Amino acid sequence: MTKRILITGHSKGIGAALTQQLLEQGYEVLGIARTQTPAHSQLTQWAYDLSKQDEVMKVCERLSNEKLDVAVLNAGWNDIRPAEAYTTEEIFQITTLNFAAHAAIIRATIPALLQTSGWLMGVSSFSAMEVARWNNYYGAAKAALQHLLQNIFEQYRKQGLRVTTIVPDITQTDFYKHQQFEPTDAAETFLKPEVVAQVISGFIINEPAYVPSQVVLRPQRFELRRKE
Ligand SMILES: NC(=O)c1ccc[n+]([C@@H]2O[C@H](COP(=O)([O-])OP(=O)(O)OC[C@H]3O[C@@H](n4cnc5c(N)ncnc54)[C@H](OP(=O)(O)O)[C@@H]3O)[C@@H](O)[C@H]2O)c1
Repeated sequence: MTKRILITGHSKGIGAALTQQLLEQGYEVLGIARTQTPAHSQLTQWAYDLSKQDEVMKVCERLSNEKLDVAVLNAGWNDIRPAEAYTTEEIFQITTLNFAAHAAIIRATIPALLQTSGWLMGVSSFSAMEVARWNNYYGAAKAALQHLLQNIFEQYRKQGLRVTTIVPDITQTDFYKHQQFEPTDAAETFLKPEVVAQVISGFIINEPAYVPSQVVLRPQRFELRRKE
């Protein structure tokens, strides 16, 4: 039977590269994002805004009827600013998208993943690992996601559920399109989205005989530049 992979944020960046790699290998992909990518016979796309609680509720209701082998919780967004520069609404959007929506999706997909001895994978961020200046609501939401994923593994490992957290550092994607900061042009200062996606698709395709609990991916050098 063809394996079915849920990917949140399949339309751009890491999620788009992962979707392409898995479709090329014959997997079925269920992608959730606000925008769509070109159609493919093995790709189902749902358009939802995962920063909005009412849309997350609809997604969870639909997901409870889906067969799944792997769920990749990848959608994310931030705008790097000092803590006082966010509106209250933005704080809810950032924490909902980067944590609460995925917590609810975990709850909605656990029964399906237990039926297939499946795999839950979360895309966190190096921001979750370090307490740094301007790394505030987003970093805290990603840290919460990491904590929950570890908790879910402890709770369900006996039932065969694998859980992995992927922790990328600076990756050159649309994540920086709207921001004041961006990766520099020097190749050693950023990861390519295809490379991060290859780590994830590699696990899905090769099914190693261990559970990679947390995989941290960092470029050789750390550098972000302020846009002119
Ligand atoms: N780029 C980095 O430096 C970096 C570093 C560490 C971790 N990460 C994490 O890696 C993951 C992938 O990010 P990326 O770098 O590939 O960024 P990206 O190119 O901006 O892609 C983000 C994906 O998330 C989706 N998304 C964003 N807001 C959404 C919303 N409100 N509702 C539904 N989907 C939404 C986007 O789809 P639509 O726009 O179509 O909705 C897109 O498919 C994110 O969780 C991000 O936090 C990125």
